[in-house]
Amino acid sequence: MKSKSISRRDFLRTAGVGTAVLFTGGTFANLLSGCSLAEEAVRPAATLQSTPLRSSPANLTGLEIALSAIEDRVDILPGGATPVWRYQGEVLKGAASVLQTLPGSYLGPVLRLRRGQQVRVQFNNALIDPSIIHWHGLHLPEDMDGHPRYAVPAGQNYTYEFTVNNRAGTYWFHPHPHQLTGPQVYYGLAGLFLVSDEEEDEAGLPIGEYDIPLVIQDRTFDADNRLVYLPNGMMDQMNGFLGDRILVNGKPDFTLPVEAGVYRLRLLNGSNSRVYKLAWEDGLPLVVIATDGGLLEKPIKRDYVTLGPGERIELWADFSERRLGSDMRLVSLPFTAGGGGMMGGMMGGMGGMMGNSGALPNGARFEVLRVRIEKKASERHLLPEKLSTISRYQLKDSVNARKPRNFDLFMQQMTGTINGRRFQMDAVADDEVVRLNDLEVWQFANLGGGMGMMGGGSLPHPMHIHGVQFQVLERQVEQAFRSEYRTVSAGFVDEGWKDTVLVMPGERVRVLIKFDDYTGLYLYHCHNLEHEDAGMMRNYRVKA
Ligand code: C2O
Ligand code: CU
Ligand code: CU
Repeated sequence: MKSKSISRRDFLRTAGVGTAVLFTGGTFANLLSGCSLAEEAVRPAATLQSTPLRSSPANLTGLEIALSAIEDRVDILPGGATPVWRYQGEVLKGAASVLQTLPGSYLGPVLRLRRGQQVRVQFNNALIDPSIIHWHGLHLPEDMDGHPRYAVPAGQNYTYEFTVNNRAGTYWFHPHPHQLTGPQVYYGLAGLFLVSDEEEDEAGLPIGEYDIPLVIQDRTFDADNRLVYLPNGMMDQMNGFLGDRILVNGKPDFTLPVEAGVYRLRLLNGSNSRVYKLAWEDGLPLVVIATDGGLLEKPIKRDYVTLGPGERIELWADFSERRLGSDMRLVSLPFTAGGGGMMGGMMGGMGGMMGNSGALPNGARFEVLRVRIEKKASERHLLPEKLSTISRYQLKDSVNARKPRNFDLFMQQMTGTINGRRFQMDAVADDEVVRLNDLEVWQFANLGGGMGMMGGGSLPHPMHIHGVQFQVLERQVEQAFRSEYRTVSAGFVDEGWKDTVLVMPGERVRVLIKFDDYTGLYLYHCHNLEHEDAGMMRNYRVKA
């Protein structure tokens, strides 16, 4: 009934899945059995040859993984399983330890790879919709990056073959089909891609069971435990989906049992549009050791960390002073940035009208997870002073230091646009072409404008650029937005490598990006997945 207010055909089709097709069950049971995967047609080999791999495959060859996007049912809440879509993985060739399953979760496997390692991934799309995997944060040739133009229809395969050349860090993978990324991630398709390297080995961080991935997402369930996507129709599409329950690693009321020792916590904001302002409830500072693109040079303390959709942060969490049997809570603190003004007012009004006033607004205070100190520690760890080396880009080395490439972010006819444009599959404007090996300054400006009553500029936009890791150069905020900006700004960790940067209302963010190794067509977009699906995404081209 509510989905009627959403007009796009693609979306209607997907929204229908939540109530009809997902419940047929059974059809995908034999997915990975037998050798059907190996026998099915793969993409023509030509797509694999177009761009040379950066580093030679070294001695770590022969890893082959099958990843299938399947329909499944998973127990999330008491009282009955929830139909989901999820990635199911299997190591076809190589060490089984590369793939770690999160037990009982809809989330995909955690892939643990080494820098320099060569991998082949056979993606099988067993959904009813087209799909393709994007490796968020990885530096890859364009045809390995999961651009929507490579989406494969239901029942088809796509073969990825690449060398992992990113630094050690917490990356992730998720679907990227045209206009369907939001629903596919929402119904469960996402997984972590953890890279390790020698530099990280030397930092002496906790490993094994002391290295914990934590994927934070919000979801809404109906009375039958089914996932509800965009319950407020157009308002949700415009603002981005906000669920009324917080899940960690696919579980509600998540509790992490620990020893009274030191942990490495890898946090991914895997939510469609929610921004988190993460803090320990007792006010102890967070010790941040890494951002999107891996380790910082040294640990940094923050009272809280602001994490937009798609962003990652890693924490050094020392529980050694904690009493056995005690709890510690990670919370999201209240903030007022975004969703204010006319749009927030309208959203509140509509929410009330549609009986959704109980949903957690962006900026609400809530608990994210609990840590329970259960045992004495078996080991002692000291916080390393040095974590890694980051070579700093210099503004003076950029080709456009005086004239940043500017991207205006604003809402037009209820959807986000970039420089007034929306996504077109193959289109690249003249001002979206960069040269291979150039260092550039890009500026994202979230200043509103171009809009009447909806008061553009009142939403945060987590801007993500495919294929690169960049460095944040500076942030500026308009006077009128300063007080709300201050409710989140101390939580930005701009000291490390980033692939996604939160651009708050009234803010201009400048980043330095180098386009090396690969030419071709890549995406940049808002990682609010509803904004992305509605067209707040564009191509850029790297040209030799
Ligand atoms: Cu994580 Cu283009 O996306
Ligand atoms: Cu990405
Ligand atoms: Cu956005």
